[in-house]
Amino acid sequence: MPFDRSIKIAPSILSADFANFGAEIRAIEDQGADWVHVDVMDGHFVPNLTFGPMAVKAFRPHVKTVMDVHLMIAPVDPSIDAYAEAGADVLTAHVEAGPHIHRTLQAIRTAGMKAGVALNPGTPAEAVAHLMDLTDLVCVMTVNPGFGGQKFIDMTAKVRTLRDMIGDRPIHIEIDGGVDVTTAPLVVAAGADVLVAGSAVFKGGSVDRAQVYGANIAAIRAAVA
Ligand code: DX5
Ligand code: ZN
Repeated sequence: MPFDRSIKIAPSILSADFANFGAEIRAIEDQGADWVHVDVMDGHFVPNLTFGPMAVKAFRPHVKTVMDVHLMIAPVDPSIDAYAEAGADVLTAHVEAGPHIHRTLQAIRTAGMKAGVALNPGTPAEAVAHLMDLTDLVCVMTVNPGFGGQKFIDMTAKVRTLRDMIGDRPIHIEIDGGVDVTTAPLVVAAGADVLVAGSAVFKGGSVDRAQVYGANIAAIRAAVA
């Protein structure tokens, strides 16, 4: 996974047809997705439950780009090897998920994955100030995690702070929640390069009308160009 700061659109399959993940992943990649964002929720750290490492492993052969796995679970450490085995390229843990995020990020890298750290809207940028040499991606949540289709919470000031903190380091800034043609330009101007979008990519489309996904992805890309 070579590093660059070009804009990457990462559709969240939280908004896909849960009975048809393979075809949905193939459809969004055919239609221009750069990464595939996979939201793992445990019904404990967040009030919603999606899927675990066995499902993520089943997605793997369908993903030709980058499998970006966002863990909304606590604890994280006991599951790290299972997500490595499932084939995650990027594994992101929340700073709020436990007292030992430093150890968690080390363990993710040791298991052979890129290490991401996510910040809830209420958590300041400074929470990752001492993690810069252990992380490959900072995910700024622009909704409270747990559900797709929520209203964007403006975190552009936090993104700017992180962009300064990161400097020349090869660390992505990812935005997750409420990203659409209106909000994407705000976060890109502040320094983000990975845009997760669930409802804004999947709305109005289906695997049989995948060109709608393509138009939705193209619209976000055009809005930030
Ligand atoms: C929220 C998830 C997001 C979500 C984004 O808890 O982490 O990835 O699917 O969905 P939209 O783009 O609909 O806000
Ligand atoms: Zn997510």
